[in-house]
Amino acid sequence: MQPLIAPSLLAADFTHLAKDIDMINNSEADWFHLDIMDGVFVPNISFGIPIVEAVHALAKKPLDVHLMIVQPERYIETFKKAGAHLLNVHYEASPHLHRTIQSIHQQGMKAGVTLNPHTPISVLEEIITDVELVLIMSVNPGFGGQKFIPGSLEKISKLKELILKRNSSALIEVDGGVDDTNAQALVQAGADVLVAGSYVFKAQNPSEAIQKLKHGNNI
Ligand code: DX5
Ligand code: ZN
Repeated sequence: MQPLIAPSLLAADFTHLAKDIDMINNSEADWFHLDIMDGVFVPNISFGIPIVEAVHALAKKPLDVHLMIVQPERYIETFKKAGAHLLNVHYEASPHLHRTIQSIHQQGMKAGVTLNPHTPISVLEEIITDVELVLIMSVNPGFGGQKFIPGSLEKISKLKELILKRNSSALIEVDGGVDDTNAQALVQAGADVLVAGSYVFKAQNPSEAIQKLKHGNNI
């Protein structure tokens, strides 16, 4: 099965953002992945609403917004207005996760729940049938260009089991250190969506890098 590819704009060239957006529009990528960091939930600050709006104005593919912020429930309507199609909130930042998921749906967006590397799959038991997507962090969130944590593969297999057991239609997305050396194993373990920042944007030919992630070695 071919995965969906969601390039992370965190690694894009912000002095020529329109050029990188166009590259994604014209590539085999499926979604735009936008990383919002608040300097509190994670030790880094990325970009905010004006950039999401600007990307939305030019993007021809859905925006997958990954909120690495405390109290994400305060910004659901704001991100809907900015153009988000899918909103990912961290389990670790959401004590009232069920209510937050409901609010995301009420705003007409798809809802994703994200797990940090140390958070076990078992916490999803009671929410797995309410979300459209689970995002597994395969690095500690906050920075691009980090090394893939190998234990993430087993976590994805466990999540796949839970999804099948509960008859959930949630997609499995993986984020952090994804490249052509681990993409196929991730898909085999059950990943449906691959996020990649550095691997795509540091490549000589970014749209070819996207193709490689999508088709493995069969191109
Ligand atoms: C990390 C972000 C990722 C990041 C991935 O906190 O959530 O989306 O951009 O970057 P790479 O692919 O370089 O690990
Ligand atoms: Zn991300």
